[in-house]
Amino acid sequence: MPKAAAQKASALSATARPFTYQSRSLHCDGVSLDSLAEAYGTPTYVYSERQISERFQLFNTAFSSGAAERPHTICYAVKANSSLAILRLLGQQGAGFDIVSGGELERVRKAHKPALQRVVFSGVGKQIWEIDAALKANILLFNVESEAELYLLASRAEALGVRARFALRVNPDVFADTHPYISTGLREHKFGIDITLARAIYRKAKKLKSLDPAGVSVHIGSQIRSVGPFAAATVRVLSLIADLRKDGHDIRYLDAGGGLGIDYHDSLVDSHFNPEQQVHNYAAALSKVLKGVDAHLLLEPGRFIVAQAGALLARVLFVKQNGSKTFVITDAGMNDLIRPALYQAHHEILPVRQPRAGAPELTADIVGPVCESGDFFARDRTLANVKPGDLVLVLDAGAYGMSLTSNYNTRPRPPEALVTNGKAELIRRRETLKDLFGPELLPAG
Ligand code: LLP
Repeated sequence: MPKAAAQKASALSATARPFTYQSRSLHCDGVSLDSLAEAYGTPTYVYSERQISERFQLFNTAFSSGAAERPHTICYAVKANSSLAILRLLGQQGAGFDIVSGGELERVRKAHKPALQRVVFSGVGKQIWEIDAALKANILLFNVESEAELYLLASRAEALGVRARFALRVNPDVFADTHPYISTGLREHKFGIDITLARAIYRKAKKLKSLDPAGVSVHIGSQIRSVGPFAAATVRVLSLIADLRKDGHDIRYLDAGGGLGIDYHDSLVDSHFNPEQQVHNYAAALSKVLKGVDAHLLLEPGRFIVAQAGALLARVLFVKQNGSKTFVITDAGMNDLIRPALYQAHHEILPVRQPRAGAPELTADIVGPVCESGDFFARDRTLANVKPGDLVLVLDAGAYGMSLTSNYNTRPRPPEALVTNGKAELIRRRETLKDLFGPELLPAG
């Protein structure tokens, strides 16, 4: 293929959405959602392997050539979607991982053991067993979030006879416009260490032989759409790195965190979100401030890689009227996807059967069966006039969907299906009631 045509084809595939109507019915990369509901029941999470890989490669290639080229490792944020099959897929493509618990460390080990050496460990409350497990696994970097944690890390490394590579996660006091629950880069947030105090702490760390001050890290929040705040935070980190190098520290890593946002309002019919452009802008903004800086760049994207690759397939149970309001009640609830309840997050919702032009619509709250008024996916949403038994698809649910599920109301978690090369495969089965009762103990008598 000529170069220009190849570039065009790859640009198209990188922006092609996995969920599309074919013969008036929704498909995921060629697999009909009707057939998936038939095979696996509802609710079910459905993911496109193609899009997960493409999104990861967008980040990878952005820093592999051209002006933004530099040594880098893309450490996928496991918390966004921690399914073993997805971790393996990314690990095999060379991804590193950003973890926040000993549990996530075990997931990486199970999914793709060689990737342990590309793990960065973040989180404000690391426990001894978690630190020990990560030290024994010889992970790449601990992102340390307090002075007390640093001394704990030093003593555990000493006890185990190893040296711990660490970065202080600094709090740059940069504002990023996102939901207050997922903004992290201001001084009043619990995350990181005040950047003005960091230099003194690195000096103290230098005296501890079990510590290797190897980097500086920053993460300002999640679902950040404009790239300016990322550059602003990086500028502050770079000035700290310059000071640290003057102090004789061998700083090799700059971890710029995750947080790049997607467009949850983008619709299938009128799509204008261009992920390739977004990653390009992000890489350009970072590389502009990183010009001439010699450091291995670490990034921790989560949502951007998996959110739009996944959707939650559900069936309408009832349509009911209360006063002036109409409610579409689905078999998926807030325990299956909590983002709307927790962050008033917007998710597009589509009927699996495509309505004819001009077909009647309804305006309703799309809700689940859970006994909370906060159990909704959308409020006052206009959509096709769905009936009980119809399938609907909640879009952009691949990130912080399954990983935030619970068993609230004693509801089994949904299964997950991964579509690869036009074929679907279960990567997690539906929980059974037996699974739910497993850990419980009934006192005798
Ligand atoms: N690195 C660190 C240290 C983080 O705390 C996070 C996310 C990430 C990376 C990945 O951020 P991402 O690229 O996915 O934005 N449950 C919320 C999002 C919570 C984000 C927590 N930290 C939601 O559903 O919107």
